[in-house]
Amino acid sequence: MAHSPDRDTPSFPHPALAVGCMRLGSWGAALNTPGLQAFVEGCLECGLTLFDHADIYGHYSTEQDFGRLLQQQPALRSQLTLISKCGIRMPSPNRPDHAIKFYDSSPAHLVASVEQSLRNLHTDFLDILLLHRPDLLLDPHALAETFTALRQQGKVRAFGLSNFRPSQVQMLLAVYPDLAFHQVEFSPLQPAAFLDGTLDQCQERGLRPMAWSPLAGGKLMEHAKLQAIWPELSQRYDASPESLAYAWLLAHPAGIIPVTGTTRLDRIREAARARSILLTRQDWYRVWSAVQGEVA
Ligand SMILES: NC(=O)c1ccc[n+]([C@@H]2O[C@H](COP(=O)([O-])OP(=O)(O)OC[C@H]3O[C@@H](n4cnc5c(N)ncnc54)[C@H](OP(=O)(O)O)[C@@H]3O)[C@@H](O)[C@H]2O)c1
Repeated sequence: MAHSPDRDTPSFPHPALAVGCMRLGSWGAALNTPGLQAFVEGCLECGLTLFDHADIYGHYSTEQDFGRLLQQQPALRSQLTLISKCGIRMPSPNRPDHAIKFYDSSPAHLVASVEQSLRNLHTDFLDILLLHRPDLLLDPHALAETFTALRQQGKVRAFGLSNFRPSQVQMLLAVYPDLAFHQVEFSPLQPAAFLDGTLDQCQERGLRPMAWSPLAGGKLMEHAKLQAIWPELSQRYDASPESLAYAWLLAHPAGIIPVTGTTRLDRIREAARARSILLTRQDWYRVWSAVQGEVA
């Protein structure tokens, strides 16, 4: 499927990685503004320019932390491609009206959420907005109208989904064919997207897949069966196990964009190195088989 030519949907080379921001603030490293500046500049030095936010990260505070950096260093904005997500409403000291966790894809909530993200991030526009989770009460036509209006107003340049089932993506593509991204969890420990039609659909419909928790929240590096094969692979490719783990995702022809989760620049550098590693098919399947068992 080709996207409309008049859309300025950001496109990325293959291979490409995104920098996840979930753990940079109060849900993780709690970087102060100078620490965040060093981290962001270090990512840019590695050629990583795509930053993945969500309204909820840090209990609705991490976008603001990041925005303080952009307020102090406005010239940085043009070097960054900013993703945010919306649609989850969670109980938080910063959202006292949320008594329970729920999903909200209503036009009023999406527009208010985007406008809040723009204020938080000190930017006029988001490069990419993802609907964070499938809302059980989702109205596809209202969503398409909201995306269209946000785009026409210049507040968001491109749209995608996160954590949707292929049937839900299909329904939404029917009313909004310019969906450009689908962010789901996948790694050798969470391989559902390889098997449930998610990647097939991305390839068929031209959605660029993004992989969240590419190291399974860090568990991948501790997995006993993988630890048994990393030394041989590390020697063959002259690469660290974490570089190989990202290279494993980058090897897929769908053009998966792994979204890093680390808060450490040395580990960002290892992630960036993955772009120059080309795993053989046999080694790709070695990683798959170590965790999932040999293929039939
Ligand atoms: N769309 C969604 O629903 C969704 C859900 C979850 C996350 N996300 C996005 O995906 C991003 C990544 O998720 P994630 O944080 O779970 O990713 P991850 O890369 O699987 O896990 C990162 C965690 O693993 C730790 N870690 C341990 N050993 C590591 C190593 N050798 N190299 C790198 N990290 C290591 C990191 O600690 P250190 O910081 O100490 O390195 C960090 O705590 C998030 O930041 C967010 O942007 C999206």
